[in-house]
Amino acid sequence: MTDTILIFDTTLRDGEQSPGCSMNLEEKLQVAAQLETLGVDIIEAGFAIASPGDFEAVSEVARQCKRATIASLARAATADIERAWEAVQHAERPRIHTFIATSPLHMRVKLNKSPDEVLEAIDRTVRLARNLCPDVEWSAEDATRSDPDFLARAIETAIAAGARTINLPDTVGYATPETYGAMFRDMIGRVPNADLAVFSTHCHNDLGLAVANSLAAVMAGARQVESTINGIGERAGNAAVEEIAMALKVRHDVMPVRSNIVSTEITRASRLISGITGFQVQPNKAIVGANAFAHESGIHQDGMIKDASTYEIMTPESVGLTQSSLVMGKHSGRAAFRQKLQELGYELGDNAFQDAFARFKELADAKKAVYDEDIVALVDDEVNSGHAAIQVKEVEIYCGSNGPQRAILTLEVDGEDKTVTSRGNGPVDALFNAIRMIVPHDSSIMERYEVHAVTGGTDAQAEVSVLLSENGRTTRGRGAHHDTMVASARAYVNALNKMMVKRGKAPVDAKVAS
Ligand code: KIV
Ligand code: ZN
Repeated sequence: MTDTILIFDTTLRDGEQSPGCSMNLEEKLQVAAQLETLGVDIIEAGFAIASPGDFEAVSEVARQCKRATIASLARAATADIERAWEAVQHAERPRIHTFIATSPLHMRVKLNKSPDEVLEAIDRTVRLARNLCPDVEWSAEDATRSDPDFLARAIETAIAAGARTINLPDTVGYATPETYGAMFRDMIGRVPNADLAVFSTHCHNDLGLAVANSLAAVMAGARQVESTINGIGERAGNAAVEEIAMALKVRHDVMPVRSNIVSTEITRASRLISGITGFQVQPNKAIVGANAFAHESGIHQDGMIKDASTYEIMTPESVGLTQSSLVMGKHSGRAAFRQKLQELGYELGDNAFQDAFARFKELADAKKAVYDEDIVALVDDEVNSGHAAIQVKEVEIYCGSNGPQRAILTLEVDGEDKTVTSRGNGPVDALFNAIRMIVPHDSSIMERYEVHAVTGGTDAQAEVSVLLSENGRTTRGRGAHHDTMVASARAYVNALNKMMVKRGKAPVDAKVAS
């Protein structure tokens, strides 16, 4: 029988931990739902003790997900482990994932503990976790720079204390496929109770080797792979789920194992993460980049016309990439729109449906062809901004080479329309100054402003993402519209609405500056 490789997804923990990638509760629940549809076996939903928000997210993901195992990370400390259990206990299949560093450098500099003290901590904390939860994973942080004799003793201790998954992370992305595979072969071969545990890989991409290292570990006997969608994560990121899954599928001839990933859900998962985080995937990224299935040169195009397998080792359809289909035009009715939403996986309540339909009609009037991607952007935008306290009502921009550029903006704030005119160094600056005039928020800084075309063509919808930060907390906003300036206003206002919620404050201080 072919061995199954368990896919442990840490998009919501290691991925979310990377700068600018933080997600709110609603976004995390959306991601968790898609991860289950994608078929990942374990979802690491967060680090429960890190903050009340993390705790709530892990608890809610644990309540929502019915198929996947739900894990929370915990350091080797009683409070961490108890908090992790409090959060994951609601899951059908809960897991506590506890870790401690095992490399001489980390033990000395970071933990200030001797090797024996670390062994004692492993024994004590894994036992505690196992008394609370039947499924315990233990990780040796910085395993790849640990002394092999000590690492073997640490693993043996963790298994004896009840851990049933042993994760050996390449925390700093230092390993090469040969060294990483050799470490797994060595540990699985020499730890006396190794047969009681599943060995797991967890690779960072500092040298661009995360996926290659993970696969080398699989060839050496690892049966769980930790990874993230689009490879997001600390520094250069983690191994990318989609690359691992497709490598296992396409090269089954040399890696005779399988995963439970439903590959046709990959593109949807990738787009969801880039939409939520605002981290666009590089065009030449394997599997999910915009050019991954594009053929530009004449020789390649000729080969593709004759037989796609000349230049494609997997089909775009196998990763869920369908030809952009023309959906509807301005004459399409409610029934067709509702059916299209169902096909795209949306179920909207009556009010949200009516609002989305009105937006669709507006878009169909403005744009020659409306594609699936347009509908997805539009509905996501509607769901994002639907009933928030601040709404964009009207945007009028004066721009061009003979400045000054001006914006006339009307926002509805708590049910009341407020209009201002402002100037700026370019249309975006003028528009954002207008927003700041209506809703003063001097303590926040615009960290990032990005515009992305949803489809090709000069009439494409713009999808704008902004990142605001206030007192070290970042908030992301998204907006989509066929007018880039309207999309920009919607994205900024979306971020402001979320920031108000974070502060626990309604925009009562909103005013029109004189
Ligand atoms: O990279 C790492 O070592 C980790 C552990 C906490 C599993 O993320
Ligand atoms: Zn990590």
